[in-house]
Amino acid sequence: MTTSGALTGQVAFITGAGSGLGAAFARRLAADGATVVINDMNPDAAANTAADVGGDTAIFDVTDSVAFDEAVDKAAERHGRLDILVNNAGIAPPTDPEKVQRSIANQMARMEGRVSDMVPPDSTVDLSDADWDRMIRVHLYGAFYGTRAALRHMTPARSGSIVNISSVLGLRPMAGALHYATAKAGIIAFTKSVGQEVAPFGVRVNAVCPGWVDTPLLAPMDPMIMAGITMQIPRGRMARAEELAELVRFLAGPESSYCNGDVFAASGGFV
Ligand SMILES: NC(=O)c1ccc[n+]([C@@H]2O[C@H](COP(=O)([O-])OP(=O)(O)OC[C@H]3O[C@@H](n4cnc5c(N)ncnc54)[C@H](O)[C@@H]3O)[C@@H](O)[C@H]2O)c1
Repeated sequence: MTTSGALTGQVAFITGAGSGLGAAFARRLAADGATVVINDMNPDAAANTAADVGGDTAIFDVTDSVAFDEAVDKAAERHGRLDILVNNAGIAPPTDPEKVQRSIANQMARMEGRVSDMVPPDSTVDLSDADWDRMIRVHLYGAFYGTRAALRHMTPARSGSIVNISSVLGLRPMAGALHYATAKAGIIAFTKSVGQEVAPFGVRVNAVCPGWVDTPLLAPMDPMIMAGITMQIPRGRMARAEELAELVRFLAGPESSYCNGDVFAASGGFV
């Protein structure tokens, strides 16, 4: 990591920054001088990152629009400005051991040309209203609430950068994670639309589509499934959160002055 101090005096708000990618983004932006406000639902996780980077915490669920508005307003008031928002908070689809085994058996059958032996995984049929709703809310509503709250400060200032964390699954959806892929694809359309709206007014909105990154989010995944996924990554390994942090740092800062409503994957060749 080469640090520059280029973000000195700037204020960044990062959601889901108590763990994984969000924590790495916080460390990276702070290393270049930004004051970082650490959001997370998990107070201990947020406090750990904040202690690391010397920032404030803002404990709330990103699906709560009132709490989001209040926290962003408070951060802007306390620090006198808001320059960067990273909409990062996210959840993974819950893993169901029975479906995992069925998926592995189906993949084996497909590889061996025994398609008629495959058993319908029923991922869509079995998806509950609550699981669908929560997935869309955390990712898509969260990004909307955060962006709306931040633009109230950024547009009048004619300055600011919003980075929305999508996923390679928003570009290359995968069976079994349809609500996740749908939410992440929605973030891409959302980013392009808002990015076009605010581009003339000095505010930049861009999306990052991380490939498979080694964070606690993937910890519950079956090792066989992960091995199968890793085989499809031309780079031959998962990403480190720090590698994605370099891309977020670029989009957050002045170096990306011509990126407006643009979408950037870092996937090791997966997409
Ligand atoms: N890890 C990957 O392979 C990968 C790949 C592509 C995209 N992503 C995306 O990157 C983002 C970060 O993922 P990660 O891998 O760092 O996960 P992680 O589980 O390590 O961290 C996510 C953090 O978000 C917080 N969070 C979850 N729901 C929240 C909510 N409603 N409000 C506030 N905080 C909430 C969690 O408490 C946690 O601290 C997510 O949007 C995820 O979908 C991850």
